[in-house]
Amino acid sequence: MLLPAAAIRKLRERFGYVEINKATKIESGTGRDQTSTKTSFAGYQKRVGKANVKKAMNAETSTIYRDELANIVFVKQGGKIALKNTPANWELIGKGRSAYVFKIIGEQRAIKVFYPPFEHLAMEEARNYEKAAGISFFPRLYEAGEGYLVMDFIRGKTFFDCLAEGVAITRDHVAQVDKALELARRAGLNPSDIHLHNLLLTETGAVRLIDIARFSQKKQCTQWQDLKRGYERHYGQYYFPKRVPKWLMRIVAYFYQLRKRLNGKQ
Ligand SMILES: Nc1ncnc2c1ncn2[C@@H]1O[C@H](COP(=O)(O)OP(=O)(O)O)[C@@H](O)[C@H]1O
Ligand SMILES: [Mg+2]
Repeated sequence: MLLPAAAIRKLRERFGYVEINKATKIESGTGRDQTSTKTSFAGYQKRVGKANVKKAMNAETSTIYRDELANIVFVKQGGKIALKNTPANWELIGKGRSAYVFKIIGEQRAIKVFYPPFEHLAMEEARNYEKAAGISFFPRLYEAGEGYLVMDFIRGKTFFDCLAEGVAITRDHVAQVDKALELARRAGLNPSDIHLHNLLLTETGAVRLIDIARFSQKKQCTQWQDLKRGYERHYGQYYFPKRVPKWLMRIVAYFYQLRKRLNGKQ
């Protein structure tokens, strides 16, 4: 079915939201300069009201990242949670449905800071990482605290970016995910929420799994089985595009989630 140009534009607007790198750029003018951040943020705070503003952490917690964490501020913006500043020696590398993730510059570590109301997931995810400790497919956890986790930084691309950029996802990569999930199950976890943004491929072809907060849920999750079936049926076929547009992947994900929700209600 051919969609008219106007409909395609609408879909792009709905599903093609700002990329993280562009967002970093917008923020970096203020984010890397503490003084101007404070001034401009004060004005912003006045406009949006304090009730909408939440610090990532209260200043009493003891960690070497205390100052940075205490300076992170989240603001509610049109129903979404926006990050208002990036600490000077941190680089924003990702955002998901519960957290912003930064690379600590000069270290091979990433810090995941959960925004409200998901702060409680930090401890849940930390417990899961403890169970997965020693399994090389998962990053090592160094520290966990109120609303944040410090783990290995994985230099690589998400499967989502691989598809968008035309980087091949091979049968071996898929088999590595299967192996990681099998080992996680053996460690007493229940793998859930396995989607393209939570699978990373390194430059050496190693697969890493992140975002395992939901690995302790009771419900069985079929997301990986569904993804794998899609891969086996369509990936590499003559009609499968070399690069898949991001907005198209977001539409597919949207309808997949919608169908799951509707089936769940029946
Ligand atoms: N350890 C890490 N190393 C490199 N990138 C990461 C790491 N953890 C998260 N990311 C990036 O940040 C994004 C969001 O992280 P994630 O843990 O999935 O957050 P959420 O729970 O909000 O979905 C990921 O999709 C990935 O791009
Ligand atoms: Mg995620």
